[in-house]
Amino acid sequence: MERPCAKLLTSEMTQPELDGLRDALSTRQRPGQHLEIGTAAGGTLCEMMRAATHRPRFVVIDTMTYFANQRETVEKNLRSHGLPLDQVEFRVMRSWDAFRDAIRAREAFDFILIDGTHKFRYVMQDLHWAGLLNPNGILALHHYTPRLRSVKWAADYFLANNRNYHRVALAGSLLILEKTAPDGPRGPNLLPDPVASLMHPLFQFENSVRKRLGMETSA
Ligand SMILES: C[S@@+](CC[C@H](N)C(=O)[O-])C[C@H]1O[C@@H](n2cnc3c(N)ncnc32)[C@H](O)[C@@H]1O
Repeated sequence: MERPCAKLLTSEMTQPELDGLRDALSTRQRPGQHLEIGTAAGGTLCEMMRAATHRPRFVVIDTMTYFANQRETVEKNLRSHGLPLDQVEFRVMRSWDAFRDAIRAREAFDFILIDGTHKFRYVMQDLHWAGLLNPNGILALHHYTPRLRSVKWAADYFLANNRNYHRVALAGSLLILEKTAPDGPRGPNLLPDPVASLMHPLFQFENSVRKRLGMETSA
């Protein structure tokens, strides 16, 4: 599929969403690793790196199959903004495989942006990354909108069951949370994977009906 960002090298976020992200990154500089799950052409990555002037290390997880030559395109985008490639570590894989590696390596992050696949069970899986977020860290989730209930439902469930995450802002469809205290000993409270798998087809069905009716399904 033609992706406009592949040619234009732009972010897939709206200006208010980028402004919200910039605010979250620049009002308080967090020194630990920053993570983006799903980068498209790296447009948002460039904006985030420019906002984080203290130059934290960025980790980018992406299967790099969104369009042809995606990895090269992201690198070209960074270079054209004068941003250092050695500040970014690319992990070209599915986010849940990367999560297993990150757990084994006992990694921690100060900032996590979840913007990979927006299908229900995978959003639920990506929310596991919150367990690797340091207290006072930021968790941002894109496409939090009633038009895409897979993401909205997953985030609402997460918020209702994890009182140690405080809603900082909703900029467009970008939900920005701060982790105010550590998770319990078993990590964040998440919907068990088998339950998420059972519910998954319902969200897929609703989404396909919305598409067939010509209704919007994203921000
Ligand atoms: C909506 S785009 C990301 C947009 C980008 N954050 C921006 O603001 O411009 C989704 C990205 O997630 C990647 N992706 C999809 N499923 C994934 C998965 N399971 N693991 C890692 N990346 C995935 C796609 O390759 C694509 O680059």
